This record gives sequence, C-alpha cells and structure tokens, in this order.
Amino acid sequence: MTTTSVALGFEAVERAVRVLRERLGSIPPTAVVLGSGLGGFTDRLASAVTLSCREVPGWPVPAVIGHAGRIVSGTCAGRQVLVLAGRVHLYEGRSAAEVAFAVRVLGRAGVRSLVLTNAAGGINPSFAPGTLMVIDDHLNCTGTNPLVGPNDTRFGPRFPDMTEVYSRRLRAIADEAARDAGVPVTHGVYAGVLGPSYETPAEIRALRTCGADAVGMSTVTEAIVARHMGMEVLGLSCISNPAAGLNTEPLSEADVLAAAAAAEGAFTRLLEAILVRL
Ligand code: HPA
Repeated sequence: MTTTSVALGFEAVERAVRVLRERLGSIPPTAVVLGSGLGGFTDRLASAVTLSCREVPGWPVPAVIGHAGRIVSGTCAGRQVLVLAGRVHLYEGRSAAEVAFAVRVLGRAGVRSLVLTNAAGGINPSFAPGTLMVIDDHLNCTGTNPLVGPNDTRFGPRFPDMTEVYSRRLRAIADEAARDAGVPVTHGVYAGVLGPSYETPAEIRALRTCGADAVGMSTVTEAIVARHMGMEVLGLSCISNPAAGLNTEPLSEADVLAAAAAAEGAFTRLLEAILVRL
C-alpha cells in the first residue's frame, strides 16, 4: 500500500466524517457533486451552512477554476441536501485514492444517493451544447481505478459488480422530473478520460465506435467508489461543446465554462425537480 492510500484509508475517512458532523450537524442521505461551471446551484439552497474543504482533514483541495472547494449543507425544495461545489481530478496529479476520498466520507457519513454532475463534450452528433444527458453507463478510460490496491472490506467487496453503476431507479426519477419541470433530457454513455489535454479527433472517433455519447475528465472514479460502498448513483452531464473534430472550432476551457453557465438555469430546475423526488 502506498503512503497516500494509507493516509487516506478508513481511519482518515472516519476522522473527516466526525468533522463534517461537528460542523454541519446531521448529514442528509442525498448529496450532489457539482461539475465545472455548475457551482451556482448552491445559491438555490436555503438555510445553507458552508464549510471550506480546507477545514476537513484529508479532504483534497481543488486547484482548477470553476471548482470552488466548498461543502454546503442546506435545503432545496424542502429537502435537506449536501452539495460539494468543486471536486479534484486525476489530471491535477491527484491519485485515484484522493479523488475517492470525498465520496468515501459521504458514504460513511450516511449518504445513500449520490448525484454526480459534470460538463462534457458531446460525441453523439445530435447532442448540441446545452443538452442535458442522464448517464446510463460509463467507459472508464482514465487508465486507473480507485479500487486498485489492498481492499478494505469496511468500504466494500474486492470485486464489486458494475452492471448498474447508474441506478435504474434514479434514472427513471430523472426522466419523470425532467418531464414535470419541462426540461428536455437525453440519455447516453459517458466516457471518463484522464485529460488534461482535450481529445484528438481520432480519439473521439474511437470513443464513438466504443459506444460513448459524451466525454469528460471526472465522474467515473467517484461513481466506482460510490458503487463499491453500495450507494445509488445518478450521473448528469451538461454538454458544453461538440467533442474534438465534430466542428471546426478549437476547444477552450473558457468556452466549456461559458456553455455550462448558460445551461445552468435548466440544469438547476432539473436538479431541484429530481431532489424533491428522492
Ligand atoms: N473533452 C473532455 N472533457 C470535457 C470536454 C471535452 O470535450 N468538455 C468538457 N469537459
């Protein structure tokens, strides 16, 4: 076991859980991780209590623009929810164990339903920027897996099943919520890549051939860790750009963030409609 994975093991997770409880009180059974450009959702929370991730021992601090590193507990449409505004990514040089840490803390604190959101490039040619996609399944193309190394059965089994990473029940709830909120959604397969460079057009063609509809640099690591712990996962992608080679424009982070921000209104309505049903 590496020093990092020992340092972020079960006892460290339990320490962080204690701090979260001390600072935020009871932890609700539902949590949301907000992706790039989608952090504004926290403004919709009532009676919000905010904690900086720097205040939680072991919690890795995000280094990228658009990822604030806040843990917010509050109510949305009358339901208590815990929101993580900001996450760490493998491309920052973080280990999969570091990316896993926050999800493990949530799981041990009692979160049972985890909503993972992200901004993603659209591979499916019918996905224009602004499309909201319910993730049906994923391709882990990051080159790593957060469960590599000795398995701690207090988190979950050595060889966890991944037949239904993204809960069928929660996907059906997302569809119902989308209909009621009047927010169109589509469904698809999310390919999680390492980054930080965007893909080449050849890589996008390869991912398309493999069945991917969208591509991004987050979510799959967290989803695997959450399933390992038996949490129910819902994944939502906000398509921020056509993936490389699907139009003539070069990709830029500024465009990705701007497109995610433009879709934030619809995204927020969808999320609220989902949360009232959980
Ligand atoms: N590729 C990878 N990650 C992304 C993209 C993309 O095109 N857009 C937003 N995140």
